[in-house]
This record gives sequence, C-alpha cells and structure tokens, in this order.
Amino acid sequence: MQVNYNEISKTYDQVRAENRDVIDLFIDEVRISDQSKVLDFGCGTGNYANTLQKRTKAQVYGVEPSDGMREKAAAKNPYLTVVKGNHEHIPFADNTFDFVYMTDVIHHVPDLGMMFREIGRVLKNGGLLCIVTESHEQIDNRFYVKYFPTTATVDKGRYPDIDEIIGKAQEQSFQHVKNVIIGEGMEIPVTIDFVELVRNKGYSMFHLIPEDEYQAGLKQLEDDVCTGRLKKSRHSGETLIWLRLL
Ligand SMILES: C[S@@+](CC[C@H](N)C(=O)[O-])C[C@H]1O[C@@H](n2cnc3c(N)ncnc32)[C@H](O)[C@@H]1O
Repeated sequence: MQVNYNEISKTYDQVRAENRDVIDLFIDEVRISDQSKVLDFGCGTGNYANTLQKRTKAQVYGVEPSDGMREKAAAKNPYLTVVKGNHEHIPFADNTFDFVYMTDVIHHVPDLGMMFREIGRVLKNGGLLCIVTESHEQIDNRFYVKYFPTTATVDKGRYPDIDEIIGKAQEQSFQHVKNVIIGEGMEIPVTIDFVELVRNKGYSMFHLIPEDEYQAGLKQLEDDVCTGRLKKSRHSGETLIWLRLL
C-alpha cells in the first residue's frame, strides 16, 4: 500500500504535533522578524508553520502537494499562505524567501537534485535551509523497531542518509553549515497515546510494512504498555541539517 496523505490528513493532527525544540532552534539560528519570508516545504497540516508564524509574526508560507493536508493547514491560521506544490514546482518567484525549512518530508521526495534546485531558486542568496530528518543510525535505534522490525528496513530504504543529503545539496550550490542532533537518548514516557498513534497508523511507515507484522507488533505493544512492562524508553533523536545557499 502506498502512503495517501489525503487519507492521513483526517487523523494526522490527533497523533502528530510540532516539536517545539525544533522551532526554538529555528528562531535561535535564523534572525526571523515580521519582515522575514519563510517557506515550510511539505508543510502538511501546518503544525510548524502555524506555531512559527504566531511566535515570530513572520510571513510564513507553506507548500504542500496533498489537498487534504493543505486544507487543514489553511484552516489553522489565517495568516499562513498555503499553496499546492512539490519538489518539482514551488509556485513562487526566484529569490523570494529568507529561510526555508522542511520537517519529516525528505523521505517522500523522489528526486533530491530537483528539490534542491527548486528550493535554491526560491531562496535568496545567502539564505538558510534547514532539513529535519533522521539518520539511518537513528532509525535503527527507534525503540519500537523491536515491535515492527521491518519499519527500519523500509525507512532506511526511503530515507536518504545524512551524507547523501549533504552531497546532493552541495551539487546544487548549497554549503553545508552544520548538523545538529536533538533528543538523542532523552527519556520518553511510552503511554497509551503512543499506542493510539500506532493504532491510527500515524507514521506513514506503518502503511508500508506487512499487515501481519503490524498487527502482531501492535498486540505486543498494547500488552506491554497496558501491563506496565513498557513505561518509558529512549528517544533515538533527530538530525537538523543546516545549509546555506551560496
Ligand atoms: C510526515 S508529513 C510532514 C508534514 C509536516 N512537515 C510536519 O512535520 O508536520 C510529510 C509531508 O510531505 C508531503 N510531501 C510528500 N511528497 C512531497 C514532495 N514531493 N514535495 C513536497 N512535499 C511532499 C506530504 O504530502 C506530507 O504532508
């Protein structure tokens, strides 16, 4: 089964939210003011764009291919401008944005060269791009891989690893600034909310593994959480790749 974000949009916000630490890092790293133009590439239901706009009063735009996801984003905040687009076409003029970011999107993009070319076109020279993703090592270290082993295989197949992303960006005139790793090793409570996220297939990888593995893993996870055998775990972390357009 393929990932259908129009379908996922119906429940996405029940199970997914923005990571406020990531937004803090954007604000720390980039001088964002009410004059700044910021693009959220693959904005989904606008969770990051909404919070960033409210905190900074910047002009925040979202590009998103799925109609369902876009509708949710636009309904969230009247100050957001959310338009249809993808890695092949971002419907804005050259040199429009001061800052572009993307959270949990890069594994859906089939052609990184084309994406970096298109983002490089709409980003101002000297502007920053931040890609929030997971390395292959971080994918292997997700605590729930023991319940759903194929998720690691599937995700390492579709997530480009960090060096590959940097290499493709450099081919399109981006300079690598730094990688920032967040959350790694952080203790996280595992509650019924996480079980609910899995029940709703709130991560797209659950649509891509065999159904029998998904059902067996879910049952084991439900048992472990409900009996108190699994109360907490360690976060495998995320990687923020910072790039500057030369
Ligand atoms: C896991 S969601 C993340 C949404 C949002 N960035 C967030 O963090 O909440 C992935 C998003 O990427 C979008 N997407 C898929 N293919 C894309 C492409 N080629 N270009 C841009 N966005 C894409 C999907 O429609 C979906 O909304």
